[in-house]
Amino acid sequence: MPQRTSDSLHAAIIMDGNGRWATARGLPRVAGHRAGAEALRRTVEAAPDLGVGTLTVYAFSSDNWQRPPVEVSALMKLFHVYLRREQARCIEQGVRVSVVGRRDRLPRMLLPVIEGCEQATERGRKLHLRLAVDYSSRDAIVRAAARLKKQATRDDLSKALGGEDVDLLIRTGGEKRLSDFLLWECAYAELVFTPVMWPDFDASHLAAALAEFRSRERRFGTVPKVALG
Ligand code: IPE
Ligand code: IPE
Ligand code: MG
Repeated sequence: MPQRTSDSLHAAIIMDGNGRWATARGLPRVAGHRAGAEALRRTVEAAPDLGVGTLTVYAFSSDNWQRPPVEVSALMKLFHVYLRREQARCIEQGVRVSVVGRRDRLPRMLLPVIEGCEQATERGRKLHLRLAVDYSSRDAIVRAAARLKKQATRDDLSKALGGEDVDLLIRTGGEKRLSDFLLWECAYAELVFTPVMWPDFDASHLAAALAEFRSRERRFGTVPKVALG
């Protein structure tokens, strides 16, 4: 059964299209990532009023280490800047920030910033922002399974993964794939794919995705409600 701890939704976003957005404007890819950070700020600000309680965003996949070193280091610097710059705003807006994914391969200078931001925002109750960095869903499942006993249940694995089931998954940038993001948690997620490039994403796009989500009937394997009588 889907796990829901409250009425608010768990939305997840694959924030894709930064590079293409920049290239189309004759800009370096990193300019797209900087504009993407602004889009994330707008989205975080809009999410609570639209009924989102948890927002998990894909910022850097474990496969993204294969990108050119200049792009990787620019992204790591951007995480540093973003976490430091947004911390005060997150506290003010009641946003709790967690970073999910592996930490042992991140630049060491990032670790105190991540831990500092998590601690400083831990009392935030309006929105739980989960930033996936060096994240691979397959790796997360393998690590969670390794920590469990042999007869583990679905609930045990869900708990070991540390997140609730996703209600709505949005991917920007036009691709229609999951790219190793929240494979277990999205078992019954509604999927919304939009051609909007991530740097152009704003509250109106989030509202449209949520309207689409609310117009769908989630059946979880059973029959339509009308047929149940
Ligand atoms: C998503 O945008 C951001 C990261 C993966 C870090 P991309 O950088 O993948 O942008 P495109 O897909 O090349 O346009
Ligand atoms: C997925 O996007 C990862 C993030 C958005 C952080 P990618 O651009 O890396 O995915 P693929 O390569 O198109 O599948
Ligand atoms: Mg991409």
